[in-house]
Amino acid sequence: MVAVLAVAALLGVSACGSGDDDTPPPSTVEVFTWWVEGGEKAGLDALVRQFTADCPGQRFENGAVAGGAGVNAKRELTQRMARHDPPDTFQAHAGAELIDYIDAGQIEDLTAYYDSWGLRGVLPADLVADLTVRGKIYSVPANIHRANVVWTNPAVLARAGITVPPKDLTAFIADLAKLKAAGVEAPLALGRDWTQLMLLEAVLISDLGPTGFSGLFTGDTDWRGALVAKAITHFTALLSYGNLDRDALDWPQAERLLIDGKAGYQLMGDWAAADLAAKGFPGYGWFTFPGNGKAFQWSADSFTLSTGAANVTGTECWLKTVGSATGQQVFNAAKGSIPARTDVPSTGFSPYQQSAMADWKSGIPVPSCAHGSACPQAWQTAVNAALTSYSSGKDGKILQSDLAQAADLFVRP
Ligand code: GAL
Repeated sequence: MVAVLAVAALLGVSACGSGDDDTPPPSTVEVFTWWVEGGEKAGLDALVRQFTADCPGQRFENGAVAGGAGVNAKRELTQRMARHDPPDTFQAHAGAELIDYIDAGQIEDLTAYYDSWGLRGVLPADLVADLTVRGKIYSVPANIHRANVVWTNPAVLARAGITVPPKDLTAFIADLAKLKAAGVEAPLALGRDWTQLMLLEAVLISDLGPTGFSGLFTGDTDWRGALVAKAITHFTALLSYGNLDRDALDWPQAERLLIDGKAGYQLMGDWAAADLAAKGFPGYGWFTFPGNGKAFQWSADSFTLSTGAANVTGTECWLKTVGSATGQQVFNAAKGSIPARTDVPSTGFSPYQQSAMADWKSGIPVPSCAHGSACPQAWQTAVNAALTSYSSGKDGKILQSDLAQAADLFVRP
């Protein structure tokens, strides 16, 4: 007891508890994500271990809310912001999604940290531009994910005589038909709204090309055009090879169909690489979505400093770890993504990740609406709603007009 009191006195900590001027500053950093299981949780855990080592006296508090792509987390975050109870830091995608928070005055300018931590020189200039609004930088990126990847169960494919990746969409649809003929009831594992948006985006990249696709979000490409109609026809063909309960499944449950051999393919971002390994299925195969060529559909998880954060000092230390070379090494090795920093060695990353690193260097970057780099949240919500009604009604013309109307609200000609 004497020893404890002596240490407390040395540290200037009041033995009488809180409520007086000596109240110690908060030492807990609440980190808000949607990473709760499998490879996602493994990535977060690795980052937390590094944070604990880098930031003595600070403790991680997990504010995660389950739901792929943040479907539930973002709703909860909005409610917390409205009642002025923000987490200290939260996960947000670089690009359009961040602008909502900036315009609402919900996150702080981190430009000075970029300078003192030397981040400008080690992050790709284009990524820094996507994080910058009106000359200020508002978040620290942890990674680069790739969205337009198809994951495979090689044993299921082999049983249907499929040994090479399809070279284009027509060949992909032919392979799906082969699987069906071989008795695989739902060759393509599908999940709810946002995962269907990912599939539609991948098809749009094939049918419009990277420039045409990116133009859909800047007003340079017409959502009412013939190529979008063609993509919707392809999308419909792909849906017909999927599981009928798609609207009820989040991505890990759809992925389970692949692992269990009930499906041959799943289109999903490369968080699947880590998740498949974490769930005991390291023998997966992968290829870039057929017809996407060198398009690398990227998104970047980044972390913010909330306006009104209770523990600014601890959050600064969290952000420093997120942006550090070691933080990015340990986090990404477990998460399936690749470091946003360009100076992290590729050793210790999986064969898939090594291939993604090479593709990121040589590929054509295109953004993602499903994962926030291409469109703000309200646009994404409108598109997800259009896909959910399409999933039950299947009227391609209505889908195209809903997609066009959603774009009209956000893109000014
Ligand atoms: C994305 C996010 C990824 C992963 C994925 C599935 O939006 O960028 O890190 O969490 O959702 O939940």
